[in-house]
Amino acid sequence: MPKVAIIGVGDVGATLAYTLQLSGLATEIVLIDVDKERTSGHALDMNHGLFFTPPVKIYAGDYSDCQGAKIIVIAAGSRQKPGETRLELVQRNAGICNSIINQVAPYIKKAILLVTTNPVDVMTYVVLKSSGLKSGQVLGSGTVLDSARFRYSLSQRCGVDARNVHAYAIGEHGDSEVLLWSLVNISGIPLESFCKGCRHKCTLETHSQIEEAVKKSAYHIIEAKGFTNYGVSLAISRILRALLRDEHSVLTVSTLLNGEYGFQDLCLSVPCMISTNGIERVIEASLFAGESAALQKSTDVLRSVIKSLGY
Ligand SMILES: NC(=O)c1ccc[n+]([C@@H]2O[C@H](COP(=O)([O-])OP(=O)(O)OC[C@H]3O[C@@H](n4cnc5c(N)ncnc54)[C@H](O)[C@@H]3O)[C@@H](O)[C@H]2O)c1
Repeated sequence: MPKVAIIGVGDVGATLAYTLQLSGLATEIVLIDVDKERTSGHALDMNHGLFFTPPVKIYAGDYSDCQGAKIIVIAAGSRQKPGETRLELVQRNAGICNSIINQVAPYIKKAILLVTTNPVDVMTYVVLKSSGLKSGQVLGSGTVLDSARFRYSLSQRCGVDARNVHAYAIGEHGDSEVLLWSLVNISGIPLESFCKGCRHKCTLETHSQIEEAVKKSAYHIIEAKGFTNYGVSLAISRILRALLRDEHSVLTVSTLLNGEYGFQDLCLSVPCMISTNGIERVIEASLFAGESAALQKSTDVLRSVIKSLGY
């Protein structure tokens, strides 16, 4: 029976737990946080909703409750303050992720670890190295949210259901991420062909505006309300669904690259097939020259941050 543990029950972890309760995907949700009182409050509050949702056992627990969990989500740590980049969180959150892994190590041998703490690509690498698990067992939420933001922006511009828009953001979940215009299609129709029948006359300037909106969206939300929680929780739930239901879905999660796209020994987001085993395979797409160059820059940024942690 699928048990999911959520470590770090702040705005992201708590919203994810609620999303998961509504989804009916898990039969057991354990909430773990250093702030035990607030976490018990979340558990009790959610339990009061059980009359309205699919049955699920929800409780506040300890690290030992990760025993038997199919998936452990790591959402603990500091978040960006207004104007702060994700990369500025790296030292603090690497310490938190390492200490969590030390404490859960006896209970996670067969689990899949899904990291969402920022900077998520670097934290995925830290968790992978300190856990000693196989690379397919450790993934980061990566640019699943950024890909959804890209799809949303395109859907608004094109006036079409976001679910008919296929588009990927890859690389760092952060300022250097790369939006793959080469792969954009609407219901399988390449963007260029779709645009021919459209009354909007988009230009490269429009593309730049969309890129700016996607890349800056977290900054705007944090400026307005202090944190992001809904979009990211839905994105993590989408990954959980693929894992728990063995969907073989293609999502841009953060994973350790082993030569794919020409990169080694660092985690970043690329399209991956997700099954019950975790990362089933990394899918290599052909990129435009400009996209490959931008991806190279994104990996340079990530590599220098990983190096600064002493790896
Ligand atoms: N990957 C994404 O797309 C994405 C999106 C939004 C936020 N985030 C990141 O998720 C993380 C959490 O964000 P938030 O808004 O929920 O922050 P928050 O401050 O609301 O919550 C963080 C929680 O972590 C807990 N915590 C700290 N150290 C811990 C430890 N050692 N063990 C267990 N719990 C611990 C805190 O008590 C707190 O409840 C941040 O790093 C943020 O940047 C990622």
